[in-house]
Amino acid sequence: MTHSVELIPHSRPTLGEAEAKAVASVLASGQVAQGPQTDAFERRVAELVGVRGGVAVSSGTVALEVALLALGIGSGDEVILPTYVCVAPWLAVTRVGATPKLVDIEPQSYNIDPASVRQALSPRTKAVIVPHLFGLPADLTALQSYGVPLIEDCAQTVGALERGRRVGSVGRVTVCSFYATKLLCAGEGGMVLSNDAGLLEQGRALREYDESDRLNPLSYNRKLTDLQAALGLAQVNRFQDFARRRTAIAARYGAALSTLGLTLPVVPDGRTHVYYRYVVRIPESAGPLDGMVQRLEGRGIQCRRPVFRPIHRFLGAAGFPVSDDAHVRALSLPLYPTLTDAEADLVIRALCEEFR
Ligand SMILES: Cc1ncc(COP(=O)(O)O)c(C=O)c1O
Repeated sequence: MTHSVELIPHSRPTLGEAEAKAVASVLASGQVAQGPQTDAFERRVAELVGVRGGVAVSSGTVALEVALLALGIGSGDEVILPTYVCVAPWLAVTRVGATPKLVDIEPQSYNIDPASVRQALSPRTKAVIVPHLFGLPADLTALQSYGVPLIEDCAQTVGALERGRRVGSVGRVTVCSFYATKLLCAGEGGMVLSNDAGLLEQGRALREYDESDRLNPLSYNRKLTDLQAALGLAQVNRFQDFARRRTAIAARYGAALSTLGLTLPVVPDGRTHVYYRYVVRIPESAGPLDGMVQRLEGRGIQCRRPVFRPIHRFLGAAGFPVSDDAHVRALSLPLYPTLTDAEADLVIRALCEEFR
């Protein structure tokens, strides 16, 4: 497709002088594999999330796998997860040999629906994976009441509050992702976080096999490098600035888009939003979402489906009406710390032209 104006991308990492210096100093040190930078990164992310410690690994998907293995989950066990999420949680559950049980989401928050989780519980349920999507916490209070271990998936949400508690500090174990365009970028990377020292120890044993007295067939090489950790550390130092900028852009969008017939993000009582994504729902009268994405791209604005495809649709399964509705109507707008006010105004103008 040709563009009359330069395209505003849907996502963009925020990288500058601090990141360049941090990576260069690791290169100069010669210690590029897992080492002191990784240790420091684990401490800082654990502090940010509000838990005892973290185990840095090579991706968020790997962090989910390690979390499941550390909880002793495997063949014969069931793990509940929402269908409206990227396929990483399903892949991890399947990879450890357990059975994924898909459930629907809440219409307004896009997060896992506690009532659907309650219906899916069985004596074989060993955990619920709780992704906090788009920067908004899931209803942890309701989910906790079932007494099943929660694996909080904070790949898209760090720093948000649910009833005054930080996301990631509530479940048995938490995972993060440091993929390039996530809230904190390390290029690729992930972390398993917990208050449980034994679980963290297990996570370390699963991450690396060297100098272990025991030959553990589940152990592997799932390490992060110090180059990545240094990049991640530089990002942690800027996290509060990133959060402020994201909130300001969301406020700008909220003020300008409220009269266009779009359903804007809703923040339920007792929760805060960190706006990893700004997801609007387009009215049915706007026609198919793919056409809208193309028209906006023609106007220089790259928007995306916030979830590529709900998992049940890969499996040919039915019975997830809320996720289906989100799939056909939810649109994610560009929002990241380096998006300027002028760029945000171009996004707003394009949406006004489409929806007014
Ligand atoms: C909710 C959620 N969980 C897990 C992952 C997997 O993270 P990674 O890409 O680092 O493997 C992602 C990343 O896309 C995600 O959005």
